[in-house]
Amino acid sequence: MDWEKKLGELESQVSELLAQAQKAEDFFRIKQQFLGKQGEIAGLLRGIREISPELRPIFGQRINQAKQLLEDRIAEASRQAESRQAWGGGETQDLTLPGVWNPPGRIHPISQALDEICEILEDLGFQIADGPEIETDFYNFEALNIPKGHPAREMQDSFYIDDEIVLRTQTSPVQIRVMEKQKPPLRIYAPGRVYRRDMDVSHTPMFHQVEGLWVDGGITFSDLKGVLMLFAERLFGEGTPVRFRPSFFPFTEPSAEVDIGCRICRGEGCRVCGNSGWLEILGAGMVHPGLFRRVGYDPAEYTGFAFGLGVERIAMLKFGINDIRLFFENDLHFLKQF
Ligand code: DAH
Repeated sequence: MDWEKKLGELESQVSELLAQAQKAEDFFRIKQQFLGKQGEIAGLLRGIREISPELRPIFGQRINQAKQLLEDRIAEASRQAESRQAWGGGETQDLTLPGVWNPPGRIHPISQALDEICEILEDLGFQIADGPEIETDFYNFEALNIPKGHPAREMQDSFYIDDEIVLRTQTSPVQIRVMEKQKPPLRIYAPGRVYRRDMDVSHTPMFHQVEGLWVDGGITFSDLKGVLMLFAERLFGEGTPVRFRPSFFPFTEPSAEVDIGCRICRGEGCRVCGNSGWLEILGAGMVHPGLFRRVGYDPAEYTGFAFGLGVERIAMLKFGINDIRLFFENDLHFLKQF
């Protein structure tokens, strides 16, 4: 037998196996196969009897050298694998690589607008309230003076779940829910999602509204004007022109829509404001006595005002955006600008 050749083969066999070994069992098996009692090296040592006595010490020494070498290699490879595992498996870590940079997120423009609206209302003494997004026909319509067949229902094409359950089309039902539970004085705002079957540059099937309601003895239309003028000026800047325009809502009487001077043309008239010089920001009015009677308030004792605004519309005006759908496409090129 060519001993040197045999030893060389064993060494390269071990190298190959070690290159593939990962787990502690793999190394244990390699050790068994080559260095164990029934292993390759032991086999070679047993074969030593066949060679002449003078040469035995030389071969013995040579085999023991090879044994030591294999032992060291297996131990080293196993130690390296263990430390790789400790680093989380797979490859060794290159500690000179730069770290992974997690770009900081930012607040969505709708949330920014909503946060600002809520902060102003908090400063004006309004307290937060909420109600369900899956609402009954009663709270969303009936209790707000919008009976079945009323034309106002057509302005709000709705998602019905069944005859009596609807995805709320407005935050106004929160007015009723709060008044049912609490007696005046009452000064609340209710932010939240609302749903309508609508989709174009200024409508999405889901959008956000904020409702406001202030009820007490002796609240007048002057209070409504004062609060909403303060609100509009804080939101759009001091000196922003504000006007109140007569309007109609079934749950307020009288009703108004509130406009601010167009920020694009400064009142000259342009495409954005439809040449009127004004932009509508919200609807408002004095709470209809029918609502008070329905929740057990005496309309002779209490008066109040309410308002409702669309958050997306406010954000579009604040940030100069002309398509509401951009808010919901999650395009980072768009969102990163705010
Ligand atoms: N709920 C109305 C809408 O969605 C907005 C509104 C108008 C709310 C006047 C009010 C209000 O509270 O007084 O169009």
